[in-house]
Amino acid sequence: MNLQGKEIVLGVTGSIAAYKAVELLRELVKAGASVKVVMTESARRFVAPLTFATLSRQEVMTDLFTLDYDAKIRHIAATEGADLLLVAPATANVIGRFARGLADDLLTNLFLASTRPVLLAPAMDADMYRHPAVQENLERLRTWGVRIVGPAEGELASGMWGPGRLAEIQEILKAVTEILQPTNDLAGEVVIVTAGPTHEPIDPVRYLTNRSSGKMGYAIAQVAADRGAQTILVSGPTALTAPRGVEVIQVETALEMRAAMLDHLPKATVVIKAAAVSDYRLSRPSTSKVKKSEKPQTLQLVPNPDILKEIGAQKGARIVVGFAAETGDLLRQAGRKLKEKNLDLIVVNDIGAEGAGFSHDTNVVSILDLDGGVEQLPLLPKRQVARRILDRVVRLRQERGSGG
Ligand code: CTP
Repeated sequence: MNLQGKEIVLGVTGSIAAYKAVELLRELVKAGASVKVVMTESARRFVAPLTFATLSRQEVMTDLFTLDYDAKIRHIAATEGADLLLVAPATANVIGRFARGLADDLLTNLFLASTRPVLLAPAMDADMYRHPAVQENLERLRTWGVRIVGPAEGELASGMWGPGRLAEIQEILKAVTEILQPTNDLAGEVVIVTAGPTHEPIDPVRYLTNRSSGKMGYAIAQVAADRGAQTILVSGPTALTAPRGVEVIQVETALEMRAAMLDHLPKATVVIKAAAVSDYRLSRPSTSKVKKSEKPQTLQLVPNPDILKEIGAQKGARIVVGFAAETGDLLRQAGRKLKEKNLDLIVVNDIGAEGAGFSHDTNVVSILDLDGGVEQLPLLPKRQVARRILDRVVRLRQERGSGG
């Protein structure tokens, strides 16, 4: 990692994880970045400013009401030449104040006054993190283009287990590098990603679906776009925010997903099918609400088309990546799907594993290729899984040459 010549403003807020910001600062400085640290008042109760000042070799900024030597107002001046405002750890409180535009100390003023990219690494107790207030604030910040890294799941300072730990330092550094040194190794590719479940209507109010949250597919779309691909995300119903720089096509049913895919397929050079498509739909969904007085029903199902198989059959020079959610004999089942659907790679999700599968922010997968290779990845945040999948796509492209 080379951050030579980069200027980062590191905001440290009052979380028990503030001590980890010391290590983060050391790594950033080691990578060549010039780092100005801004501490909130409560952060100073956890770690002394002197620690940050010594390691950053710069004065630590804490006070809003001080003029710089050239009489510039601090909250305007501090991020002027900066490449990034990084807040780690970011408490529920500072996230809330950012999201509501409140500015009552130096850091919150910096956030409002800055036009630079912002990266937040939240850290708090699991119940706080899950609170709708915090979730809503994070969503709001995301829609403004603020990037969020973590939090990780694990043991928390309270003794609880859950999401809320500050993301690993290496994970934060990766997110920093992604912003400051975007890799463009997918430039020229047109990537179609599918994500989420499908809804197969029973009547106007009910439907068949599955537990897919869409997080894996959204992470892939975000990373693909960040790495320079023209990215189209065909998404089933999810509660997620559209990734930055991605064209999102919302669909509901498997048939709608198929139509959207086939529509965009001619221009695609890469197809990644992370959606959990319903294998069946009702043969005749009711157009009016089914009443309970209509006595117990038997639902007549018909198979949905296997979209991935259809795409595999006409893939040409495209790179096609499928997913397989399995519980039993994972690798054998996935190997079979890889060949049957004429794919280049298949990503196997062990949905039985701890921290893997639906609605988690982490996943445990293996990537199978046509040469019989099996790359087993450890438990990783979905964003990192996305990176590893796209690394394989880039490698395949390099081996094969242009996708046209
Ligand atoms: N898939 C698809 N269309 C379907 C069903 C699945 O495109 N009608 C895709 C999924 O997006 C995924 C892959 O096929 O990339 C594998 O999905 P999965 O449900 O694991 O496998 P199936 O082929 O449906 O096989 P089975 O249900 O027998 O495990």
